[in-house]
Amino acid sequence: MAEPVLSPQEEGKRAAGEAAAALVEDGMRLGLGTGSTVRWVLEALGRRIRDEGLRITGIPTSEQTAARARELGIPLTDFAATEALDLCIDGADEVERGTLRLIKGLGGALLREKIVAEAAGRFVAVVDASKIVEMLGVKAPLPVEVTEFGWESTARRLAALGGSPVLRRRDGAVLRTDGGNLILDCAGFAPIRDPLGLQRELKTIAGVVETGLFLAGAEQAIVGGADGGVEVL
Ligand code: 5RP
Repeated sequence: MAEPVLSPQEEGKRAAGEAAAALVEDGMRLGLGTGSTVRWVLEALGRRIRDEGLRITGIPTSEQTAARARELGIPLTDFAATEALDLCIDGADEVERGTLRLIKGLGGALLREKIVAEAAGRFVAVVDASKIVEMLGVKAPLPVEVTEFGWESTARRLAALGGSPVLRRRDGAVLRTDGGNLILDCAGFAPIRDPLGLQRELKTIAGVVETGLFLAGAEQAIVGGADGGVEVL
């Protein structure tokens, strides 16, 4: 059967995902990110396991990734059995060109993604070219994961800071994360000139579980182009 024709953006995601999967070495313990770009990483890892006998284990950052990894025969583990990870590969909603700091969480997995990223010796972001920005916050709203209890009060506090929070819904229903929390998308903080200061301020609010600011940044960002080529930042 002929391969389906990919949109230019999807072609970039594919190129980035496959280039990142090629970095994986035998025996590695991986953090497996979430999203449509990571899907290409998982496909490529599944192929390498099947064709080359690549031996890896992965900790998934979402139930969605766990389900796909199982379908593809990628062995999964957890933090009870695994202390540290060699490499985390994950997508991003924005990558700041000069610093490789990220905004993540439009896929709703930001809390698990941050826990997994922190446990990894290396973090590689996989993105198509549309995700590269000069300053964080210009394209994507900042997702803030909050407890369900008191979310309205938490939203008021975020509004008072200028965040313009909007409760995330999917298919008309309020979206719940894998951890059972809610997400407030805050477009109002843009452009984020002082991400460290904003992160500190947001984390002082009791109902805030985590934010989509990944300020440790990526060690590398693999940026896929519409022509199927990649650029490594
Ligand atoms: C999920 C994420 C995703 O990695 C991010 O939203 C990018 O997704 P995609 O590759 O589908 O554009 O942070 O919480």
